[in-house]
Amino acid sequence: MTTAPAALDDFPAALPFPRRLAILGSTGSIGASTLRVVDSLPERFEVVALAAGGNLDKLEAQARRYRPRLLSVRAPEDARELARRLAGLEPRPEILHGPAGLCAAAASSGARMVVAAVVGIAALQAAYDALRAGCWLALANKEILVAGGELVMAAAQRSGAPVLPVDSEHSALHQCLRGGRRGELRRLILTASGGPFRQLPLEHFDRLTPEQALRHPTWTMGERVTLDSATLMNKGFEILEACHLFGVSERQVDVLIHPQSLVHSLVEFRDGSLLAQLGCADMALPVQYALTWPERLEVGRELRLQEWSRLDFHSPDPRRFPCLELARAAGRAGGAAGAALNAADEVALAAFRRGALPFPAIARVIEAVLGRFHAPTPRSIGDILEIDSQVRRLAEDRVAAEIKA
Ligand SMILES: NC(=O)c1ccc[n+]([C@@H]2O[C@H](COP(=O)([O-])OP(=O)(O)OC[C@H]3O[C@@H](n4cnc5c(N)ncnc54)[C@H](OP(=O)(O)O)[C@@H]3O)[C@@H](O)[C@H]2O)c1
Repeated sequence: MTTAPAALDDFPAALPFPRRLAILGSTGSIGASTLRVVDSLPERFEVVALAAGGNLDKLEAQARRYRPRLLSVRAPEDARELARRLAGLEPRPEILHGPAGLCAAAASSGARMVVAAVVGIAALQAAYDALRAGCWLALANKEILVAGGELVMAAAQRSGAPVLPVDSEHSALHQCLRGGRRGELRRLILTASGGPFRQLPLEHFDRLTPEQALRHPTWTMGERVTLDSATLMNKGFEILEACHLFGVSERQVDVLIHPQSLVHSLVEFRDGSLLAQLGCADMALPVQYALTWPERLEVGRELRLQEWSRLDFHSPDPRRFPCLELARAAGRAGGAAGAALNAADEVALAAFRRGALPFPAIARVIEAVLGRFHAPTPRSIGDILEIDSQVRRLAEDRVAAEIKA
């Protein structure tokens, strides 16, 4: 793993306000939280670029409200339709599409800070380009570091631009790490709500439906991350994310189930002291922390501890959550394994989502694919995208084999 850039000991020269923002994934759940922060601190931010997939109604409304210079959507026909809808808008935004549109939004729209909140690895190249151009990166997107952490963090190190975590757990770690020095760190502890199946008897797992898996007990999030929370693969991804962000090994990152979701994560220092970060379960809080870092600004939320009589912590059961160990194995293997893990997970989840696979087969598919896939360490974002497509083909074959069995 690479060593962490300016996350622990150093603060780079602060980025002046108002900060010019590009929001990749503006129509999603994190995109909405980001725009809530912008609305609450209008003098602090200027939105210069918005990028989305295919939700044109939402993007059109955002374009009318925030008047960015650049908009991007996934498909060319959607770009034409958006241009038609926004024909009279002043100033007239540039409207692009596809991976090139995402890269332009990130690295050539005039943004100084990029929020990466596109699901999957569609914005990997854009995040990389942003860092190479010296833009600060507020990173929600777990998959970017899981698949391309080595390259992304190396780009950050070269340009000196910080990668600021938006994920609530990594935001918590980032905050706790301000309380000590790198050499004093013993381990990081990620907390997990345990998802909707934390206590369900294992014999019910074969009959679980996607609708049940999409009912997260604490957070309202996009579909992929909600399903990953049900298998706990999201926590596995977060282990790898933490390794890249904070320059630690997989062995230094523990996971504890904490159903109340009040403690967002903890850091243990070598003298045995644990620092924890607590807060309301509202993604606008870690978004604001990242967008205003290193400053802390007012927010109209308060966590009333007296309303909570207890905080519970326990270790995750590996039989219930086999994906956690699969992610750890990918972390130990390094190289191409993170990209393979992400691609296999995405294919297996999609098959479960369409009713083709039972819930326990998600982990079986991923394990089988990781066992069969070997590739040299990726040296470029292009290599990662190539690994992604190869693994998707393997995973589709494995899904077909599961269906036949
Ligand atoms: N939600 C959370 O609380 C949370 C917490 C921690 C981390 N994260 C991470 O943050 C990321 C986003 O999660 P989310 O919950 O916000 O997901 P989401 O609600 O599903 O939103 C995904 C966003 O990505 C856009 N998108 C999808 N494919 C695209 C493409 N090819 N090009 C451009 N844009 C594309 C979508 O656009 P359209 O809707 O227009 O198609 C949407 O704006 C994920 O990596 C997730 O793991 C989320």
